[in-house]
Amino acid sequence: MKDFKGKIAFITGGASGAGLGQAKLFAKAGMKVAITDVRQDALHSAVSEIIEYSGCTAADVLPLCFDLTDRKAYTAAADAAERIFGGPPHLLIQTAGVNSFGPIEASTFDDFDWVMGVCLDHVVNGLIIFVPRMIRAYGGKDGVPREEFHVAATSSMGAFMGGAGTGPYSAAKSAVNNLMYSYAMALRPYGGGSTVLCPANINSNIGNAERFRPEHLRNTGYHISEGTMAHLNSIHAGGIDPIELAEYLKEGIENGRIIVMPFGAPEEWIKMLRDNHATIEDYALTTEERNKRMEERMANRAGPPRGGWAVPEGAEAFGGARKDLDYIDPSRIPKY
Ligand code: NAI
Repeated sequence: MKDFKGKIAFITGGASGAGLGQAKLFAKAGMKVAITDVRQDALHSAVSEIIEYSGCTAADVLPLCFDLTDRKAYTAAADAAERIFGGPPHLLIQTAGVNSFGPIEASTFDDFDWVMGVCLDHVVNGLIIFVPRMIRAYGGKDGVPREEFHVAATSSMGAFMGGAGTGPYSAAKSAVNNLMYSYAMALRPYGGGSTVLCPANINSNIGNAERFRPEHLRNTGYHISEGTMAHLNSIHAGGIDPIELAEYLKEGIENGRIIVMPFGAPEEWIKMLRDNHATIEDYALTTEERNKRMEERMANRAGPPRGGWAVPEGAEAFGGARKDLDYIDPSRIPKY
């Protein structure tokens, strides 16, 4: 997606940190922006900040206050934005998130439900709510859209490796990465794109997330205190500026990048990433014998050894869509 002027953006977590930076930048690029958050006061001040930064009018910024894990509320907000802005978003950016850190073996159901609910489930909710609307409104054929459209999510460097103290967060973020990759593949025939932003550290308010943890999910196994939040805040104060981060995302969207990693990671993180990938590579490259056996098995099947399964005469292929879903491109042949 290259042309943002006059188009519609829907940005979750748009009242603070990374999401607010994105709202400011895309409003400045000429988009109408719907921003969502659970915190009404933060939404209120974000609207003024966006107007001041971008020079847009109040009519171009729509604040929506609801909990993104509530599917009914999310659907109602999507309906409201569509009604007010005159169509579904051309650009969906799902950035809201929370973190909570502690030993994974101390984690409770509440720790998982809260962190994975906001960091992963909300992204799923938005994609299910918006993607059919976006394809119907803007999707084209053979990779050419009728109007440009794109989905994005803010994940994390944490997506690339687990950590003894970051279990629910790392699990949610790695799932978000694969999810956005899947959508990148799926939207290509319609002319849409998908990008996942993986920052390392952002100058934001996420260190205070525990203050807003919902009442019914407060049974944590971690030690949380004013002191631990102050420690987190001191780390995030040294993070990337949200506008600079949004510029990386915009560049990624403009150039159709699936993964955007806007750092400069510390040497020991790069080493951990290298070690992780080396393990996978070693496995893949030292398995000639296993590969040969697989080739033989596949060659003996009815289908080609690579690039899809042949459908036996008279049978139906798996992986298609329900026939009444009119926005699905019928020329899509599933390949697994
Ligand atoms: P932030 O706390 O400044 O902004 C996140 C916003 O999401 C907050 O305004 C919060 O109220 C909202 N939110 C939380 N739960 C919600 C819910 N259930 N429904 C609606 N809104 C909700 O934090 P930040 O850092 O800007 O976070 C943005 C994204 O960046 C998150 O997905 C986070 O995981 C990710 N990230 C942050 C990093 C950092 O160092 N701060 C590093 C890597 C990724």
